[in-house]
Amino acid sequence: MEKNVHPDVERLLLSAEEIDKIVKKVAKEINEDYKDEELTAVVILRGSVVFSSDLIRNLDIPVKLEFMQVSSYGSGTTSSGCIELKMDIETDISGKNILIIEDIIDSGNTLYKLKEILKGRNPKTCRICALLDKPERRVTPVEVEYIGAKIPDEFVVGYGLDYDEKYRNLPFLGILKRSVYEG
Ligand code: PRP
Repeated sequence: MEKNVHPDVERLLLSAEEIDKIVKKVAKEINEDYKDEELTAVVILRGSVVFSSDLIRNLDIPVKLEFMQVSSYGSGTTSSGCIELKMDIETDISGKNILIIEDIIDSGNTLYKLKEILKGRNPKTCRICALLDKPERRVTPVEVEYIGAKIPDEFVVGYGLDYDEKYRNLPFLGILKRSVYEG
């Protein structure tokens, strides 16, 4: 029997040790691809903070950090496809290698729009790195160059991911009990 990881968590999806292996695997790919290059990591607040802080510490190339925050209109767990830019980066990215860092890609709406916005600013390259991918939920196709793990369509919390701003601090990824969000 799996030990109880958190009273609100139905079951463990990825342990801290498994996440660590995934982060190192992704970092290795990035290190190889950007060898002798400089990278500007664009961290998408808030969910990506935990993943990006672990990821960048495994990168051995020069890395600059920028932050963006967007919010999608829509209700509950569905995304409408419209995103509002709540916080933008502060530097000129023309000619730079941009790596957008996200915790999860779901419908694809957020990353599609973000990539369009950033590509419009003439970077040298613009790629995406997402820790988690829920391919079953995709509505808008978007190329994601670096993916940590593909996961089923379940409500996942922990390691930066929240429900109602809670559980971001859990060191693992778990599937939330339905009773928590269905009241
Ligand atoms: C999550 C995630 C992505 C987006 C993915 O952010 O970090 O930005 O949803 O969904 P999509 O592929 O359907 O567009 P969220 O809005 O939950 O904000 P947060 O990171 O602040 O929790």
